[in-house]
Amino acid sequence: MTQPVICLLLDSTALVRYADWNVDVMEVLQELYDDPNAAVGVPVVSLIEARAVVQGRDLARLDALVRLPECHDAAAGCGYGAEVSADTAGASYGSVRDAYDTVAEDYAALLPDTRAEAALDLAMIDAFAAAVGKGARVLDAGCGAGRMSRYLAGRDVAVEGVDLSPGMVARARRDHPDITFSVGSIADLPYRAGSFDGVMLWYSTIHTPPPDQPRIYQEVRRVLRPGGHLLVGFQSGEGVHDAAPSYRRYGHEVTLVRYLFTADEVSGWLTAAGFHEECRLVRRPAGVYPDDQAFLIARAG
Ligand SMILES: C[S@@+](CC[C@H](N)C(=O)[O-])C[C@H]1O[C@@H](n2cnc3c(N)ncnc32)[C@H](O)[C@@H]1O
Repeated sequence: MTQPVICLLLDSTALVRYADWNVDVMEVLQELYDDPNAAVGVPVVSLIEARAVVQGRDLARLDALVRLPECHDAAAGCGYGAEVSADTAGASYGSVRDAYDTVAEDYAALLPDTRAEAALDLAMIDAFAAAVGKGARVLDAGCGAGRMSRYLAGRDVAVEGVDLSPGMVARARRDHPDITFSVGSIADLPYRAGSFDGVMLWYSTIHTPPPDQPRIYQEVRRVLRPGGHLLVGFQSGEGVHDAAPSYRRYGHEVTLVRYLFTADEVSGWLTAAGFHEECRLVRRPAGVYPDDQAFLIARAG
């Protein structure tokens, strides 16, 4: 049998990262060579990341690493798996990542699909999918364990996901093997400029404090093609809530807060980043969720 060629290009940042995780890249490659059918169609970098998660490496230490500046250069392209730099993301992302790594399995089990969404919420996703069009390339940014990526895939768009938490990404890959998922931050997306026709931020901006919000919309604008669409969904209101108690009842001790924003506030950040708001929905509380929920669709100028 002919062995497939495995092509792996790693920049120096990635090599430092994998060394920091104590992942032996050559060992992963040797295993692939020995059993080429073990992970057909899975990017080698994903296998390396998965190895790091399995080995329980201290992924929070990624906060100390800094991305190469050329990763924002569309011509040069991005490195893979944008680690969050301490200066752009702030210390809070380390604890957000840790929190979701801790709860990933329970989160996926408790919220396997869209049953927590009201029909109106899903109608906004349907409208977004219609706006980007059949076959459009869409990024589910802050995809968690992939349940909303699955919903988007069912709307005839070509979806892929990215999330800060390697634990959530590992679970998404396991539950939705036909969809590509990567590790990265919405504040520093690991994609070239103009890569997507649509980006969805479904409750993934809620752990970012207000001063860091503009950066997210600038990043989303960068990876969208001109005329591309953004859908953002979040709890609407003011202030900051401690999200830890919801996880404590499942036996997890995490540090996690969520911020509430008004639709007008988000609209302001969108405008500043070069978007034109097309529509919004503010839905009153329903079921066990106490907050208003807001959804905005905007077009990249
Ligand atoms: C409430 S969960 C929502 C997940 C998913 N969108 C869903 O609806 O099931 C928030 C998700 O956002 C991710 N997240 C938070 N901050 C992020 C960031 N800066 N970059 C990427 N993902 C982030 C978390 O890791 C978590 O998976």
